[in-house]
Amino acid sequence: MMCKKKLWIVLALCFALAIWKIYISVSPLSKSLDEWLLQDSLMKEEMCYHNKCIGLSSWDWFCDHFDASVNCLLTLENSDIPPEVLQWWLKLQRSKDGSQIQQMVQYLFDLLQSPTARAQDVVHCGTCAVVGNSGRLRGSKYGKKIDSHKFVMRMNTAQVTGFEEDVGARTTHHFMYPESAMNLHPNVHLVLVPFKPLDLKWLASAFSTGDIQQTYKRVKQFIKADKSKILIIHPGFLKYIQDKWTRHHGKYPSTGLITLIFAIHTCTQVSAFGFGADSNGNWHHYWEDNRFAGAFRKSGVHNGTFELQLIERLTIEGKLVFYK
Ligand SMILES: *[C@@H]1O[C@H](CO)[C@@H](O)[C@H](O)[C@H]1NC(C)=O
Repeated sequence: MMCKKKLWIVLALCFALAIWKIYISVSPLSKSLDEWLLQDSLMKEEMCYHNKCIGLSSWDWFCDHFDASVNCLLTLENSDIPPEVLQWWLKLQRSKDGSQIQQMVQYLFDLLQSPTARAQDVVHCGTCAVVGNSGRLRGSKYGKKIDSHKFVMRMNTAQVTGFEEDVGARTTHHFMYPESAMNLHPNVHLVLVPFKPLDLKWLASAFSTGDIQQTYKRVKQFIKADKSKILIIHPGFLKYIQDKWTRHHGKYPSTGLITLIFAIHTCTQVSAFGFGADSNGNWHHYWEDNRFAGAFRKSGVHNGTFELQLIERLTIEGKLVFYK
């Protein structure tokens, strides 16, 4: 008698579970519930707390530079840029008008279907290859090694076609600013590195009206890229790199260093390719033959020497693997 009762209870429970499962699978709520659960687990467990500095003070070189609490990405929630960050940011490329940035970010995120919800996309754990554009990559045969990473981050006008053997074929994240922008394949994250408020305006324009065609030089009027995968670096993250990493060597950090530090913050393991001069001491890009192309080094905007020393030191500290 008891046994039969228990059996009935178990059967009833199974039935209820089956009904619930069916309900969940057809309910329009199910997707968002799944997404919510996924996001929750990404935030709690899978987020990369690989680099942490709890309890380590300034005597540790890495922890004296690294700040885990800094926001890498601009979102609706953190678009109220602190005054000291704003003041520094406006000076980078002599911008005059820093008002209405929040409205601009709001407009941008309406247009781009709110990438805020996807901010976690980049923060799952995994190995990352950060591929700089140095001529050093020519003939390196690093292509297969680069492609074997979960994430492959490239920057500016990086070319892939025709150079696969040396630089790989995959890209998951492409860091750029308006003046270095290029069209991307579907599924690649466009990561905007904004050096001025106009860069945010340009992004909105390049995906809509196309009314911005000129910054300090002519820029792409429209851009082809996956609208749902756009990420924007927070100006505060740039200031953090300038304060804590380059320590005011150069006017502001290069896109290469920004990408590397981003990777240090978001990946379990970082490999750096294509940084530094080639074996002849030239700083041209791997797709160019012009050995004078590294003239930016003399402009004083970035201090390439200091940035390279940082990369060497990060290698010694075991925070990245530097492929020369
Ligand atoms: C770059 O940084 C180095 C220190 O590593 C310094 O000696 C050099 O003067 C700096 N160069 C410029 C152009 O500021």
